[in-house]
Amino acid sequence: MKGITVEHRIARRVASIERSATMALADRARSLKEGGRKVVNLAGGDPYFATPKHVVDAAQGALEEGFTHYTSSRGLPELRAAVANRLQLRSGVTRDPEREIVITPSAKHAVFVSLMAVLDPGDEVLIPTPSWVSYGQMVRLAGAEPVSVPLCADDGFTLSRELLEAKLTRKTKAIVLNSPTNPTGRVLRASELRDVADFSAAHDLVVVSDEIYEDIVFDENRHCSPSEFPECAERTLAVSGFSKSYAMTGWRLGYVSGPQKLMNAVLKVQEHSVGEAGSFIQRGGVAALTGDQSPVRRMVEQYNRHREWAHAALCQVPGIECALPDGAFYIFPDVSGLGFLDSDACAQWLIEKASVIVTPGSAFGPGGEGHIRLSLAASTATVEAGISQLCDVLSTLD
Ligand SMILES: Cc1ncc(COP(=O)(O)O)c(C=O)c1O
Repeated sequence: MKGITVEHRIARRVASIERSATMALADRARSLKEGGRKVVNLAGGDPYFATPKHVVDAAQGALEEGFTHYTSSRGLPELRAAVANRLQLRSGVTRDPEREIVITPSAKHAVFVSLMAVLDPGDEVLIPTPSWVSYGQMVRLAGAEPVSVPLCADDGFTLSRELLEAKLTRKTKAIVLNSPTNPTGRVLRASELRDVADFSAAHDLVVVSDEIYEDIVFDENRHCSPSEFPECAERTLAVSGFSKSYAMTGWRLGYVSGPQKLMNAVLKVQEHSVGEAGSFIQRGGVAALTGDQSPVRRMVEQYNRHREWAHAALCQVPGIECALPDGAFYIFPDVSGLGFLDSDACAQWLIEKASVIVTPGSAFGPGGEGHIRLSLAASTATVEAGISQLCDVLSTLD
């Protein structure tokens, strides 16, 4: 019936959040393409590579043998064992696969259930920014308040105890970390993690550590988890997944590990929301973790070539400052010297003049403004075409 509205019935905690800026950009890219416009999309975080064949075969085999029913809500025992083994080998962290690991449908959901498990309305969560677009919105969905800890491009987006202390209140309950970092491409140094470990122990905070890009690190950089610090291990929920390392974005598979008491709470949220990850999908996950790792190495080598090439090209453009990323598959040039009103204006202009879709730094919260994020996860041809087009038009600015 005309005139009737129901918007006022939407929950306040949902009305207060925004759509994902990166997903909205992906929609924009799709609609421009459907409208016949040739655009190069450097906004998405979806690897161009096919999922490794042995992973696809394992899931296909599971489907064919009828492995299509519920599993334990913690996830398949063999997948939890494979995750435990990986944590041990990678970080020297021991987690009991029976009680301290939960397989989730995506790393995104793993972050969500972790936050839901620990947050109460009124709690505050520290989020070093620029950061992935979903953390703040997830904190709000849990009824709590995100508090940005803005990092500064001038000192390489370095995190310190002083910056964290400056935002601490009596309401602070948790801190969200992400390394290697989307969007900056930084890998947190052991000294920064030591600061986080000391700070979180001193103030009794939970650390939610999103390590989804852990395999994508370059040069001498090493991924380090806060769980590796004894004073932090018992207060850290570490999240990772299969999307980025194994080009499995559409499979929706991830995991959380942490101390048993926190993991019991995580499990309750998962059990009463999605139940568990898809059974045959989890078989693919077992093959990914226990099978041939050479596809991961090949992908990382290609991201490394993209990073070096993109960095060299962007550094040639007058007015652009650009750090070489340590990890992940993004590059985050500072475009504030180019004379645009802000990063949104720059991104809009790049769509119009260069037909390249990028993500404005403002989408990643305080500290992101003045930058644009370019994804290097596309094919080499796409990355080279997009960055060349973008550098060409930006070089014509005076
Ligand atoms: C920092 C970060 N965490 C989590 C995710 C989500 O990963 P998944 O595909 O496993 O949900 C992304 C995806 O872009 C990401 O950049």
